Amino acid sequence: MLISDRLKNIKPSGVRRIFDLARQMKDPINLSIGEPDYDIPEPLKEEGIEWIRKGFNKYTPTQGIPELREKIASHLKKKGVHFEEVMVTAGVTGGLLLASLALINPGDEVVIPDPFFVMYEYQVLLMGGVPVFVDTYPDFRLREEAFTKKLSNKTKFIIINSPNNPTGAIYPEEDLRMVVRVARERDLLILSDDIYDNFVFDQPSCACIGQLYDKTLTFGGFSKGWAMTGWRLGYVAGPKDILQQMITLQQYTFSSVSSFAQKAAVKALDFNVEDHIKRYKIKRDLIYEGLKEKFHVQKPQGAFYLFPEVPGGDGEAFVEKAIQNHVFIVPGSVFSKRNSHVRISFAASEETLLRGIEVLNRIS
Ligand SMILES: Cc1ncc(COP(=O)(O)O)c(C=O)c1O
Repeated sequence: MLISDRLKNIKPSGVRRIFDLARQMKDPINLSIGEPDYDIPEPLKEEGIEWIRKGFNKYTPTQGIPELREKIASHLKKKGVHFEEVMVTAGVTGGLLLASLALINPGDEVVIPDPFFVMYEYQVLLMGGVPVFVDTYPDFRLREEAFTKKLSNKTKFIIINSPNNPTGAIYPEEDLRMVVRVARERDLLILSDDIYDNFVFDQPSCACIGQLYDKTLTFGGFSKGWAMTGWRLGYVAGPKDILQQMITLQQYTFSSVSSFAQKAAVKALDFNVEDHIKRYKIKRDLIYEGLKEKFHVQKPQGAFYLFPEVPGGDGEAFVEKAIQNHVFIVPGSVFSKRNSHVRISFAASEETLLRGIEVLNRIS
């Protein structure tokens, strides 16, 4: 067999499939997208272009250019995040892959609250690990009993993602403190994916695991807040011994990451995207108010997704119906062991959202 055993449990991404279908259709109402509908802010684009023109186009240090690492370190310190070392990665995706490579032995269990970002499940499976899911329905809260039931002597780490993709939930600080207490009792590592930390709607900022616990790998990035999805840039901060191994692994995988994007990112961390966030809060209100009568739905507190339960309780069947009506959304089963919900992205124009709301109410 030509293809490695490693791939035997790996399926193509369910989100990509919907995205490709939408691309083939004329005038789709696309609410499946996982990236902002605004472009990189002009001054940051200019910064990147200027560095390309200046010839900053070669390999960079494996762990990232010093000025960006310093900038990230001071950003995290201001936030009160505990860490010893910082590295720059090819998006949070690249950082997660290096962490999985560095940490997971075949048979190791990784505890993940469900619903979850799809990549977690597959990266664990790729390493021969076992994803273990903790159900957080119906209100997407982390509960001690549900959590501790899933921990075993094979548990290697826990992954927390808040604000959350696909639910838009922000876990309250008391939930995070509970997870930290449970992890501390067992000396477990926590991976905290904070990529949506710019997208917080009803409070000035949200708590994150890295503020509460030293044994945390904190992941952050430039894809969402500054819309740099195509520039592939993120970072990881945490304990030195783990980061050193991840930097070594980066030498043999990504080598280093995009040169000009790192220069632009130095400026990004000082570039306020508050106006965009305010607009996203308006979009959040529009879609939540538009759907809450017909759908059972939690009001998203962050990120740019709504995760309603569909009437009838069959998410995949509902998505088929939506697609027949030109609305592209993603079945909850892509992000969950349950198929009762769907993910709706509100990273779209208000006009698109209004058209989507009309169709979704009509077919529900
Ligand atoms: C929760 C979460 N983590 C990580 C990523 C990937 O981010 P990046 O573009 O930095 O690789 C995404 C993208 O959708 C995401 O939703």
